[in-house]
Amino acid sequence: MTKSSMSRRRFLQSSGAAAIWLPTTVKGYTANEIQSLYVDGQMQEDVSKWELDTPCLCVDLDLLEANIVKMESTVSRNGIASRPHAKTHKTPVIAQMQLDNGSVGICTAKVSEAEAMYKNGINEILMTTTNVTPTKIKRAMNLRQANPRFIQATDSPQNARLLSEAAIAMGFVADIVVDIDSGGHRTGISPGGAALELAQLIDQLPGLNLRGILCYDGGSQHVVGFAERKKQTLERLSAATETYDLFNQSGLSTEIFSGGGTGTYNIDHETRGLTDVQVGSYVFMDAQYIDIGGETNNDVYSDFAASLTILTTVLNDQYEGRVTTDAGAKACTINRPWARVKGAMGMSYTSGSDEFGTLRYEENASHSYKVGDKLELIVSHCDPVVNLYSQMYAIRDDRVEAVWQIAARGMSA
Ligand SMILES: Cc1ncc(COP(=O)(O)O)c(C=O)c1O
Repeated sequence: MTKSSMSRRRFLQSSGAAAIWLPTTVKGYTANEIQSLYVDGQMQEDVSKWELDTPCLCVDLDLLEANIVKMESTVSRNGIASRPHAKTHKTPVIAQMQLDNGSVGICTAKVSEAEAMYKNGINEILMTTTNVTPTKIKRAMNLRQANPRFIQATDSPQNARLLSEAAIAMGFVADIVVDIDSGGHRTGISPGGAALELAQLIDQLPGLNLRGILCYDGGSQHVVGFAERKKQTLERLSAATETYDLFNQSGLSTEIFSGGGTGTYNIDHETRGLTDVQVGSYVFMDAQYIDIGGETNNDVYSDFAASLTILTTVLNDQYEGRVTTDAGAKACTINRPWARVKGAMGMSYTSGSDEFGTLRYEENASHSYKVGDKLELIVSHCDPVVNLYSQMYAIRDDRVEAVWQIAARGMSA
């Protein structure tokens, strides 16, 4: 089928859901076939999303682009920047889109993730996790040797000394930020005197160059209700701001004060000194975020659109009140809340079974499905879902526009 055969296509109404476009002859493509049709950044055939083999991961380009633009316009209006966390998408093409739209860099959670990003052309990398083993310290410093734009977080004097020794041994000075605990005690050093002493040590160590502060408050991101979320995050970040003041009073660099996430992106600029938000999920959104409510919409967090979906096929419709699909735990994870059927009302989806999903109809179900029907799921929690797939299909107007490699998929070390 070529692009010239567009006239043979038609729009179909899918089981009562929104109108969808299908070629007149639905061929059905395997992942390998789609891959081979994507040459030099161009699809060689016009392929409908509904022809993709399932389960597969799709990203709606219009929604993704709008999310990136919305984030950039908001943070720049608020006088800060974004440094998006690539742990969410693990996809260099998306990291590049974020940088092209004004992000000052990206963050990575794992050294292997940082390596994958760098290998695929992304230089501005801040590694937000402290590397504690000799192997990881070596890998991080190798990366710094290859890429002078690489910045590493640390949260203890002992770790700072190890980083300095490694950098000296390799013949350079490594850029460092101090990770400060926001109160969750997950990572970071305590704010105040302890953080100041660590910063002073980094400032003195010959292999290190202090660039500032990192303070991510994961415990505030999903607080339900905007007012409550705002109150909590501003309270919890106040100790980091006091530490920022201590750094300044001691003549230490506060060039970077990075923190925040999708839940607080329009709150974080009120934390004095904060320079950029490490937003991750906003590019895709998910059921976990949709329920927290936003500044203008108490019920739904509608600031960003759900651009990421899992396409799945109905395998069995023989039993009353339910159908079985091909997207279970291995395609959706077992995170809660469960994935949601896009464009449908009155049905619930669970993915507790390894290979199968269960869709149950409620009394007010908007429609029903037959064997072979495909449906789209809004993901439960985007980060771990992305990590299940090697590639994602970039879709515009229901057509496959690109095939993106999730280059850092599985890079959890
Ligand atoms: C250190 C750090 N920064 C930023 C983020 C991004 O958060 P979100 O996906 O809520 O925007 C995370 C997510 O867990 C994180 O661990």
